Amino acid sequence: MSRPLPHRSSMADESDSTHGGPNSTKRDGPKGGEDDFVPSKLGTKQYWDEAYQTELETFRDIGDVGEIWFGEQSMGRVIRWMEKAEIPKNASILDIGTGNGVLLVELAKEGYTNLTGIDYSAASVALAMDVLQAEDLNNISVKEVDFLSGSGELKDFDVCVDKGTFDAISLNPENTNEVRIRYVQALGDALKEGGYFVITSCNWTKEQLLHRFCSGFEFVQQLPTPSIQFGGKTGNNVTALIFKRLH
Ligand SMILES: C[S@@+](CC[C@H](N)C(=O)[O-])C[C@H]1O[C@@H](n2cnc3c(N)ncnc32)[C@H](O)[C@@H]1O
Repeated sequence: MSRPLPHRSSMADESDSTHGGPNSTKRDGPKGGEDDFVPSKLGTKQYWDEAYQTELETFRDIGDVGEIWFGEQSMGRVIRWMEKAEIPKNASILDIGTGNGVLLVELAKEGYTNLTGIDYSAASVALAMDVLQAEDLNNISVKEVDFLSGSGELKDFDVCVDKGTFDAISLNPENTNEVRIRYVQALGDALKEGGYFVITSCNWTKEQLLHRFCSGFEFVQQLPTPSIQFGGKTGNNVTALIFKRLH
């Protein structure tokens, strides 16, 4: 991966096993149970609007792109998988909930040419556009779209990437189960048949994700993430999985 942009480590940086971030509710339920989730302000649009407005002002002030969720290595992992899977450089790739757009920057620097980022926060979109412009990347589409809106404008993507967005959506204090169901439907609409879904999560275990995406998607593989030791048990605080959209 190229030289990192100036940024801050996210509270969900996977190298930090002590944070009290969003994954503090993660449970390893054998049946993929989801009953133990605690709703959070991270599930609200107001939270992201305010967060990215501050990040936007900071970027315009001092050129710091802000938080990189799950840290630099989470982007390298996705890109390494794409290279190994021989995803063509002109494949259409959607970054769901792009935040500051840094993943788009890294993908572009690796030669991917057909990139789209969406986010429901206007401040995030403004920040991502500024970050891309500062890197002279003018051919990337960044749009203000609510992924759950069901507008039908996102379709036929070869690859959909999600880094922390399903986590955020899952923490919505209202309509908790409904938004999770809508996410899976929206993903099915956005991906073409045979397309790949790459998800990085700190809230969900592998079993829970397999359960959530069991219909219409086929599990392909888990990407290795650093393991942590806590209370005599070994586990991962970040889960990264690849799914394929079925016909
Ligand atoms: C944890 S941040 C991750 C940002 C980015 N993917 C990254 O890795 O830095 C979650 C992102 O999801 C966006 N988001 C949450 N709900 C969304 C929705 N319904 N539609 C589009 N974006 C959404 C938020 O605005 C925020 O940018």
